[in-house]
Amino acid sequence: MPDAGSLRSVRLDEEAGELELIDQTLLPNRTVLLRLSDPRDIREAIYSLRVRGAPAIGIAAAYGVYLAIRRSAARDWDALAVEFRAAKGLLASARPTAVNLSWALDRMERRLDAARGRPVGEVKNALLEEAEAVRAEDEEACRAIGENGLSLLGPGWGILTHCNAGWLATSRYGTALAPLYLGAERGYGFRVFADETRPLLQGARLTAWELDRAGIDLTLICDNMASTVMKRGLVKAVLTGCDRVAANGDVANKIGTSGVAVLARHYGIPFYVLGPVSTVDLACPTGAEIPVEERPAEEVTDRWYVRRMAPEGVKVLNPAFDVTDAGLITAIVTERGIARPPYGDSLARIVQP
Ligand code: MRU
Repeated sequence: MPDAGSLRSVRLDEEAGELELIDQTLLPNRTVLLRLSDPRDIREAIYSLRVRGAPAIGIAAAYGVYLAIRRSAARDWDALAVEFRAAKGLLASARPTAVNLSWALDRMERRLDAARGRPVGEVKNALLEEAEAVRAEDEEACRAIGENGLSLLGPGWGILTHCNAGWLATSRYGTALAPLYLGAERGYGFRVFADETRPLLQGARLTAWELDRAGIDLTLICDNMASTVMKRGLVKAVLTGCDRVAANGDVANKIGTSGVAVLARHYGIPFYVLGPVSTVDLACPTGAEIPVEERPAEEVTDRWYVRRMAPEGVKVLNPAFDVTDAGLITAIVTERGIARPPYGDSLARIVQP
C-alpha cells in the first residue's frame, strides 16, 4: 500500500532509548524529527499536537511509559511500579477525548501487573514487548480497515474527509485515509476533498500534505464549503476517523465532524466512520458521556494568522471535538468488520466476539 515510505509518525529508537516523532505542528513546511525520552516531554508533545490522532497518541503514550522505566534504577518490581504509575498518570492527563490514550496505558499497566514480582530487567522487557505490540497491532488494524473501507467505495468516486486520519495519525496507513491509499494502488482514481479543519488546520496542513505525497487527487476546501461541494454532486461518500466510539454508536471526532454528517444526511451521501476496535469504548454508553477537550482561545484568534484576527478579550469557544449522533452514521468500519445500525448490537458483536 503506498503511504509514508520510510517515514513514521511515531517510532521507538530502542538503542538510543528515544521516541522519534514527526513534529506535526511544523508540517507541511518543515519535516522535523523530535527525539524524546522524558515522559514530561512526551506529554507536552501529545498536548501540543506534535504527535496527534487517536491511535498515534496511544502508541506514543505506550512507548512513553516504557521509556519512563527503561532507565530506572529501581531494584524491584514494587519500586518500578511506583515510577510506572507516576508516568502513566502524567501521560494519561495529556488529552481526554481519544480513548486510545488511556486504552494503551491501561494495557501497559496490565502487562506490568502480570509481571508482578519478576526481576526488573524482565519487567522492562515485557513492557517493551507490549508497547511494540500496541504499535504493530495498530499497523495491522489500519491495513484491514483499508480493505474493509474500500469495499464500500467505487472507482472514480469523490470522497470528502475531515481532519487528518492518515498515516500521520496512526502507526501507518491511517484509518479514514487507508482505503484511499489502497484504492490508489488499485487504480480507483478517487477525487478527494479535504476540509481545512478549523481551527488547527489538520486537513490543510496534514491531509493535503499526505495525499499530495502519495499522488492522490486532492482538492482543499474551507470547512464552510462542504455543503456546496456536496450540492454540486462531487461527493459520493464521506470518510472520517474517530477519537471515541460510544457503545450506542455515537462518535467523537474532530470539531466540525458532526456538521459534515448533518450535511451528508441532507444530501443523501453515506457517512462512514473508520477506526480500530481500540477506539470503541463500550464502557461509555452514549456520546453524552464522552469528555470533550477544550483548548486555548489563542488557537482560534491567533495561531495561523500573521496578526491576531479577533478583538482582544473577545469570548471564544474552542471545543476540540464534537459528537456525531449514531443516527447520522451509515456504518462504522473497523479491522474486524463493518458495524451497521443498530450499533448497540453490532459494535458489541465486533468488539467482544
Ligand atoms: O486533535 P487531533 O488532531 O488529534 O484530532 C484527530 C482526529 O480527530 C482524528 O480524526 C482521529 O483522532 C482519528 S485519527 C486516525
